[in-house]
Amino acid sequence: MASSGGYRARMEHAVSLRSLQEDDAEAVAALVRRAFAAQSVATDPPASALRLTAADVRAHLAAGGGGSVAFMAGSVAASAMWSEQQGGLYVARLAVDPAWRRHGLARALLRAAEAAARSRLLPRLHLGTRLVLADNRALFESCGFVEIARHAHPGYAEPTWAEFEKPVGPDAS
Ligand SMILES: CC(C)(COP(=O)(O)OP(=O)(O)OC[C@H]1O[C@@H](n2cnc3c(N)ncnc32)[C@H](O)[C@@H]1OP(=O)(O)O)[C@@H](O)C(=O)NCCC(=O)NCCS
Repeated sequence: MASSGGYRARMEHAVSLRSLQEDDAEAVAALVRRAFAAQSVATDPPASALRLTAADVRAHLAAGGGGSVAFMAGSVAASAMWSEQQGGLYVARLAVDPAWRRHGLARALLRAAEAAARSRLLPRLHLGTRLVLADNRALFESCGFVEIARHAHPGYAEPTWAEFEKPVGPDAS
């Protein structure tokens, strides 16, 4: 089992991160649905993440996808899923339990994604977020991502989501 070790999040809660595994499928799917149901703004169209199932998570892993899970007090508190796409590591379903927000968990998961990209020799991370979610854009910008394009969902005349990327350099440590 791969582990990125533990560290102490703000407010003195110990958090541990490890690679997403098949056994996590039920808990992670439930967490993703719970997290996306508690976005700061209801999105149009609704997020497909609201319909994520354990079978989807297992299929993602079976297809070579990866991810990371963060545990707080022994329970799944946050997770991210990723896969190789378009010459980079595409990060999806970044989700933090509403009870554990603003403790740095998303930031920690994005660091884990960066490490995964580096170990796969991929030169960039990329992801998409809805334009209406200003808090998400603030998160990605604070983690070094830049917006590279805007897109509309099928059937929508105006852009609904933005694509962000972050170059992944050599390990500085
Ligand atoms: C978006 C989400 C993953 C953020 O998780 P989080 O663990 O609370 O984020 P972090 O604590 O790591 O925040 C890191 C930084 O992002 C920014 N940020 C995060 N949430 C923010 C908010 N609500 N408003 C403004 N800035 C915010 C801040 O700069 C923050 O640093 P700070 O707390 O030191 O100011 C979480 O709110 C979530 O699960 N939302 C619902 C699902 C979703 O939208 N996922 C992303 C899809 S693209």
